[in-house]
Amino acid sequence: MSDNNLMEKLVSLCKRRGFIFPGSEIYGGLANSWDYGPLGVELKNNIKKLWWKKFVQQRDDMVGIDAALMMNPKVWQASGHISNFSDPLIECKKCHTRFRADTFDQKQCPNCKGTEFTAAKEFNLMFKTFMGPAEEEANIVYFRPETAQAMFVDFPQVLETSRQRIPFGIAQIGKAFRNEITPGNFIFRTREFEQMEIEYFIQEKDWQKYFEYWLEEMKTWLSDIGVDSSKLHYVDIPDNERAHYSKRTVDIEFDYPFGQRELYGIAYRTNYDLSQHQNASKQDLEYRDPENGEKFLPHVIEPTFGVDRTFLAVLLSAYTEIEGGRSTTTEAIKESEVVLKLDKKIAPVKIAVLPLSKKDEVSIPARELANKLRKNWYVQYDETGSIGKRYRRQDEIGTPYCVTYDFDSLEDGKVTVRDRDTMLQERVALADLEKYFKERLED
Ligand code: GAP
Repeated sequence: MSDNNLMEKLVSLCKRRGFIFPGSEIYGGLANSWDYGPLGVELKNNIKKLWWKKFVQQRDDMVGIDAALMMNPKVWQASGHISNFSDPLIECKKCHTRFRADTFDQKQCPNCKGTEFTAAKEFNLMFKTFMGPAEEEANIVYFRPETAQAMFVDFPQVLETSRQRIPFGIAQIGKAFRNEITPGNFIFRTREFEQMEIEYFIQEKDWQKYFEYWLEEMKTWLSDIGVDSSKLHYVDIPDNERAHYSKRTVDIEFDYPFGQRELYGIAYRTNYDLSQHQNASKQDLEYRDPENGEKFLPHVIEPTFGVDRTFLAVLLSAYTEIEGGRSTTTEAIKESEVVLKLDKKIAPVKIAVLPLSKKDEVSIPARELANKLRKNWYVQYDETGSIGKRYRRQDEIGTPYCVTYDFDSLEDGKVTVRDRDTMLQERVALADLEKYFKERLED
């Protein structure tokens, strides 16, 4: 399968099965905005829940926050985003279409074939709006372009209320907004997206140790969620390409069908942000070491994870096509079959309950079983079409287990459980079914 084909197939699967569809579609859409549908929101929530569990809940050196999207504009002044968070733009003199100067290498405007362009001008990527009814300069606020700044600005309150000692981290999951000049490639680059970020506060002398430590943690996370490790690259970003706040950055890149691009990043932000905010706010943001009473501005290692890019990398890693099919029934399947080999922990639907007959004597207890399992897991009940078709429907959305309820179930109190990956089928007593899934679906 060519890479172009793969992307097309994935986008089409996402739309057809309700993972992701174009935003505002009945009005012709809104450029590069995407809505997560019923299965998409489950997968995305599972990714976020697992991330929170691994990096916040299961650690005693991490606390979370959920900050406002709009912050005092002085935050962005101090952080350097107002002066530095920009891309160079050139404009076609004929049709006034704008392009990113650093990636535009053509002689002609792709829109009107014009050949004259303006000199490059910096274009700030932050979205602006007005707070309150008066649309005037004094009321301008920005939608945050990264979640990170709230972790710096809230540092003293978190320190005081959580009684953490350095080294410790603050984590946050939330939306960020950037007025990207060239969004595209599905959910890879959008203007509204979600980030999962950690600011890990340390002593300066320890920065290399914690940089390596967090890089390893990121690698483990990627393996936990089933991202194909053969498609990952770790790229040290040279001095002249790093963000203004970073002394070392490693980008974790992924082989997407459209090329090797950034998935995540890890940066050593020094104490740049805290010192900028301390100077601008005139508040004391220093940490006092309880052991020796020494005061200092902590340094920071920042591992950052895009939620939407995680979603994309996970789907691309899981997408499998089986030529000629692999049906477990006698039905002859000529065309290829799609199996999403998603990690069980993040699969949107965990169990499908499939009665082998629509007759009440089978379908009623099957529905009851689905309702019982629903208390713990996201379950689909499906009684339409042949069993082979129903298995294929579930394989295509990555459901790890299908349970078939048949006439024998009425007699022996057992159901057949089919594993998505091995396709092995085993009879399991109804009384043991919850234990069976707890062992397999929960860690
Ligand atoms: N706080 C650091 C920071 O924001 P970044 O590399 O600019 O660093 C972090 O962004 C992550 O957010 C990226 O690694 C990527 O996963 C995601 N991301 C950035 N811009 C994005 C966009 N326009 N669309 C989707 N995800 C994006």
